[in-house]
This record gives sequence, structure tokens and C-alpha cells, in this order.
Amino acid sequence: MRILSGIQPSGRLHVGNYFGMMDPAIRLQDEGDAFYFIADYHSLTTVYSPQELSDNVRNVAVDFLACGLDPSKATFFRQSDVPEVTELAWLLSTVTPMGLLERCHSYKDKTARGHEATHGLFAYPVLMAADILIYDSNIVPVGEDQKQHIEVTRDIALKFNNRYGEVLVIPEAKIREDNAKVPGLDGQKMSKSYDNTLEIFGDEKATRKKIMSIITDSTPVETPKDPSKSIIVDLYRLVASGAEVATMEDDHKNGGVGYGEFKKRLFSAYWEYFKPMRKQRDELLTDPGYVDEITRKGASQARESAIATMRRVRKACGIH
Ligand code: ADP
Ligand code: TRP
Repeated sequence: MRILSGIQPSGRLHVGNYFGMMDPAIRLQDEGDAFYFIADYHSLTTVYSPQELSDNVRNVAVDFLACGLDPSKATFFRQSDVPEVTELAWLLSTVTPMGLLERCHSYKDKTARGHEATHGLFAYPVLMAADILIYDSNIVPVGEDQKQHIEVTRDIALKFNNRYGEVLVIPEAKIREDNAKVPGLDGQKMSKSYDNTLEIFGDEKATRKKIMSIITDSTPVETPKDPSKSIIVDLYRLVASGAEVATMEDDHKNGGVGYGEFKKRLFSAYWEYFKPMRKQRDELLTDPGYVDEITRKGASQARESAIATMRRVRKACGIH
């Protein structure tokens, strides 16, 4: 079973990325043949500075490894090290109905937020389909916001197979039910674009400050509070033990504890949760060559698989 997912190097990774995509992907690496990659071609649609892009790629590589991606189990590589994927994107674009792309939220969202309305941004889901289909992927672990893209991928693959025969494997999204949408500090979905993130590897002081700035209502300390309406509890649930969560919920219901105290508990659980990853990251940073070697090796494995698919795909289209 081929498991595949990608993450864009468009900024520092945050807790939403971790619980929505990275942690599920890391857990799945024991259950099949996992391919995980850094989607740098995709990031060119929104990151226009070459220096920023290459710094982001490095950071994502180190962060993902520090979080538990195990290169002895999963193949880890940079998207652009397998250029065949852009060829497949073109071939797929010849069967992709315009209407399918016109319905995609991400183009509308990103242009509304000021990104240039380029063909690349519009055709983004076709490149994503190529990423998935070129490795004959069965399962794609992603956060909920990527669900539409996986549906588009399935539609494109079916169109292609309809025209050329059973050439492409039809993939399935795997979306974690429990924390499909991690809230940000302002209660909206946590996202780089909303500037409401908690970074996985943020600086201690800055992170504490961010947590203390979480927006709450003005319920007085002694008054009972509704734990189901609290962003603090939602985030705490991700990083604290069951017993700690139960205590925080009770303290909400009983009153007598203020939001400041809840935020302190959240910070300390958060800091503890990512402690082993921080340690691992510090170790990885002492040997930068190691990370490059992992992704280079990963790319050569991934490329082999991509080339085999392309041979099949080209033949099916009449391009020998
Ligand atoms: P961002 O919204 O910060 O730009 P990306 O779009 O780069 O994040 O998302 C990378 C991966 O992380 C995707 O699989 C996405 O679904 C997941 N993800 C991002 N934010 C969240 C969130 N708040 N909750 C759950 N998953 C998320
Ligand atoms: N679009 C995805 C995101 O923003 C990243 C991505 C690119 C991806 N290609 C992919 C995810 C293929 C899964 C499979 O998060």
C-alpha cells in the first residue's frame, strides 16, 4: 500500500500542520510504503523570494524529521527533485475540465488574500493530482482543507482512465476525524495566512506570549465557564493527558479559575509535548549534511517509481 503526502515550504510549520497532517503521516509510516515530500514547486505560487523559499525547504526538512519522520521507514524527498511530476501535470491538464478547477476554494481564497492570479495558482490542483498519481498512491493523509483537492485528483484520474484505459490508481484521502481542524489563537482555523499560529518550534518566550494572547471572553474568575466554547481547552486536548484535560474541563464548569491560569497550563503542556522533538531538532542541526543526504536518497527512490509510472502513462497516450 502506497501512502503519500506533501507539505508546502511556505513558512514555519505550526501545531495545525502537526496534528492535521504530520502526526497522522508519521503514524502511518509503519503501515505501508510511505512517500512524503516537500512541495516546493507548489510554494512558488505564493512564495516569491528565492532565499525565503530555500530557507523554508531546509526548515521543513529538519522539522519533519525532528517530529518523527523516520527515513528508514518512509521515503522523504523534495518535489522538484522528481521533475517528471511536471510532465504528468501537463498530460493530466489535457483531461481536466476547466469547471473542475473553477470550483476549487484554494484559488479563490489565495487571490482574495492578495496572491497574484497566475496560471500556476489556478492549475495548482492539477500538479497536486500529478504528485499523488505518479506514485500510484492509495492513501493520502491530509488535513480537512485538502479534501477537495483529493476529490479533484480522483476526478482527474477517472477522466484519464476513461480516455486511455486503467492506467492510474484511484487514491483515497485519509482525514483524521478527531482534530481535522486545529483552531488558531483567534478561534479561526490555525493557518499561516491568518497569522494566528503556534509554531511547533517557536521560541519559548514568544510562544508563551502568543498563548497568553489567546482571545477569551470577559467571564470573571469565579463564574463557571463553558469548556466546549474554549479555544484553550481545544488546544489543550491536543497536548495534555486525558486526566489533565478532565481537570481543566471541571475547573471551567466549577468556576474559580481564570483564563490566565488555563493559558499557563496550556503553555506548559505544549512546551512539554514538543520537548523530545526540540531535542531531536537540535541534534539534526549539528549535521546539516545528513538532512540533505536523506532527501537526496529519498528523491532517487521516488524518481524510480515516478519514471515507471510515466513509462506506462506516456505509452497509454501514444507518446512513446
Ligand atoms: P496553512 O493553512 O498554514 O498554509 P498548509 O495549507 O500549508 O497550512 O497545510 C499543510 C497541511 O497541514 C495540510 O495537510 C493541511 O490540511 C494541514 N493543516 C493546516 N492547518 C491545519 C489546521 N488548522 N488543522 C488541521 N490541519 C491543518
Ligand atoms: N496542497 C497541499 C497543502 O497545501 C500540499 C501538497 C502538494 C500535497 N501536493 C500534495 C498534499 C500531494 C498531499 C498530496 O497542504
